[in-house]
Amino acid sequence: MTPRATRRTVLLTSGAAAALAAGCGSGGGDGGGGGGDTAAGTAGRELTSTADVPVGGGTILKEEKVVVTQPEEGEFKAFSAICTHQNCLVSEVTDGTIDCPCHGSRFRITDGSVAHGPATRPLPEERITVEGNSVRRA
Ligand code: FES
Repeated sequence: MTPRATRRTVLLTSGAAAALAAGCGSGGGDGGGGGGDTAAGTAGRELTSTADVPVGGGTILKEEKVVVTQPEEGEFKAFSAICTHQNCLVSEVTDGTIDCPCHGSRFRITDGSVAHGPATRPLPEERITVEGNSVRRA
């Protein structure tokens, strides 16, 4: 005969603890003017200059592991520069595609979709903003 464990743990909740206020104090001073570009995270960080991204081509930022393309003049896009096949870094942008040196996959500069295997999944798009002549992470 094994006695079943029917004992319950009684939770003692103190009212004070339940009413724990997350003291965030002074709410958002929502005044814009965020000119100060602090190095917090990567948002807002400049990736490249628009002048460095050829129309109908792109530029690969190896350190950032991002490729920025300009399919049409004034239209900028960015994608992960990590090949979705086996994670090589793509190496060049030619003839409207982003090319992986490892096994020859190619991705379209317009939307990162696969133009040529063996990769089957598109390069994920990265969010960017263009301010003046600089391309930044959004
Ligand atoms: S890792 Fe890019 S094609 Fe294989």
